[in-house]
Amino acid sequence: MDTDNNALLINNNKGKIGSTVLAIVSNKGGVGKTSAAICFGIYFATDQNKKTLIVELDSSPGDFGPLFDISNDNSLDIAIKFPERFKNYVKNIHKNLDVLKGFSNPINAEVITGLEMHRLFQFISEIYDVIILDTQSVLNGIIIDALKFSDAIILLSEPSIESLSRISELIFILNSKFLIDKNKFQLVINKKKIFDLFKIKDIAKILDFPVKGFISYDKKFNKSLIIFNINNLIRSRFNIEVSKLISNLISSGGIYGFTGKA
Ligand SMILES: Nc1ncnc2c1ncn2[C@@H]1O[C@H](COP(=O)(O)OP(=O)(O)O)[C@@H](O)[C@H]1O
Ligand SMILES: [Mg+2]
Repeated sequence: MDTDNNALLINNNKGKIGSTVLAIVSNKGGVGKTSAAICFGIYFATDQNKKTLIVELDSSPGDFGPLFDISNDNSLDIAIKFPERFKNYVKNIHKNLDVLKGFSNPINAEVITGLEMHRLFQFISEIYDVIILDTQSVLNGIIIDALKFSDAIILLSEPSIESLSRISELIFILNSKFLIDKNKFQLVINKKKIFDLFKIKDIAKILDFPVKGFISYDKKFNKSLIIFNINNLIRSRFNIEVSKLISNLISSGGIYGFTGKA
């Protein structure tokens, strides 16, 4: 029954929901997904003036709990159970920008069905224009389901041959096994280190996939600035580069269905 319903959702315009959905994905921890998700959130909430929600799909564990001081009682576990009341479980962190903490227990993430997730996102899409999904590096069923209804999937990679070849495998699996449209993938390289011997031309040797942007190492960047000093975060080189990157993605049509002000 559930499989049939899931199949229906997928066939029905890939289970598309009303909001613009962007997922940030990598196949390794510490690549900068949460940092990028926060800056994406700030960009849509402030530069685009869109009501924006960042949802943590990370129970590995994620860091929204300690970062935003959110308890396990206000998380995806309960929002999935009472989707019509999800507003009670989000936390506002800036004008137009709210966050929803991920599952407090990875087991809960395993037992949720695609249909339950979809129902919650339908309620969310009645309120929010843009939903940003911050994921964990090990993909599970709910993340794959969410990627199916995402309008863009930002793949973050380190600038190394190993990382890029793993990203290439990931694109292949998501596309061939899970039928996720290749055009949704937007590859971004986060340099994260000051010294980097990586050459751009190396990318072409291993990937037949365009790189949509680079993020430089920013020694002053720290994602907890979102709580302690959001103005410094907004002014950081990391955030400025991420904003430009999104703006370019929008103007090149890389975020399906979103035109906004580029
Ligand atoms: N370009 C960068 N320059 C400096 N520090 C970075 C950069 N990208 C990420 N970081 C730092 O790396 C660490 C891991 O980033 P995070 O966003 O938590 O990764 P993930 O969510 O992929 O595990 C954080 O401390 C973050 O501040
Ligand atoms: Mg993270």
